[in-house]
Amino acid sequence: MTVMLVWWLIIMSFLAVTIRVRCQLDDLGFISIDCGISKNSSYIDDTTDLTYTSDMQFIDTGANYNISKQYISPSLSKRYLTVRSFPNGTRNCYTLRSLSIGWKYLIRATFFYGNYDKLNKLVVFDIYIGVNLWKTVNISQTLYSIMEEIIITIQNDFIQVCLVNTGNGIPFISGLDLRPLKNTLYPMAKGGQSIALYFRINMGPKDNVFVR
Ligand SMILES: *[C@@H]1O[C@H](CO)[C@@H](O)[C@H](O)[C@H]1NC(C)=O
Ligand SMILES: *[C@@H]1O[C@H](CO)[C@@H](O)[C@H](O)[C@H]1NC(C)=O
Ligand SMILES: *[C@@H]1O[C@H](CO)[C@@H](O)[C@H](O)[C@H]1NC(C)=O
Ligand SMILES: *[C@@H]1O[C@H](CO)[C@@H](O)[C@H](O)[C@H]1NC(C)=O
Repeated sequence: MTVMLVWWLIIMSFLAVTIRVRCQLDDLGFISIDCGISKNSSYIDDTTDLTYTSDMQFIDTGANYNISKQYISPSLSKRYLTVRSFPNGTRNCYTLRSLSIGWKYLIRATFFYGNYDKLNKLVVFDIYIGVNLWKTVNISQTLYSIMEEIIITIQNDFIQVCLVNTGNGIPFISGLDLRPLKNTLYPMAKGGQSIALYFRINMGPKDNVFVR
């Protein structure tokens, strides 16, 4: 009887470990990727306490780069220090798995060029959710980061975020996040219809900073 119980516990703990290792989501159901950090690495972000992981489980194409030193400043979030860049192929996709069919998610992609390729060349490329165009990313100046967001109700248990080369330079990405949302939020995002961020404004700020 006791032996059986011990075996049962051993088997259960193996199962728990296997499930944990295979799952891309953290305890909150979040995915937080710092694109371009070395394989298998992860860290806890100072300001958010969230764990950022490498691209490894999500994509197997592209190459990692550090941004150029002159763009590094103490206020720059760690996520922007590295990028993953896609010189080969027109279309390179991140696959976010283990999602819940019919749930609403916020997906956020961030881009900071930081002259990572030492070419000082501005670039324009498209981002897609699966086969649907999300946005044209236009890196029209080098000093600021770009953040794109989309809210989408998903039809499968995974989603692909694709960077598409449109002949205007090599696509790259700094960070990719996924957050589950309450289904009642943003009622316009339902069925096949999603909503993308146009801009965000802070109404009634205390410090005169209206846009973040
Ligand atoms: C990443 O971790 C896995 C599992 O621990 C290991 O098998 C693999 O070799 C590691 N890859 C790298 C590049 O370190
Ligand atoms: C791109 O393709 C070339 C030629 O096949 C290869 O040498 C290189 O490693 C590839 N780079 C990336 C980032 O996949
Ligand atoms: C980025 O810089 C770190 C040290 O700051 C280094 O360990 C790493 O190899 C660099 N990565 C690339 C892709 O050059
Ligand atoms: C990118 O932005 C620049 C500056 O705003 C603009 O001149 C250019 O036409 C844009 N490119 C595309 C492809 O939208």
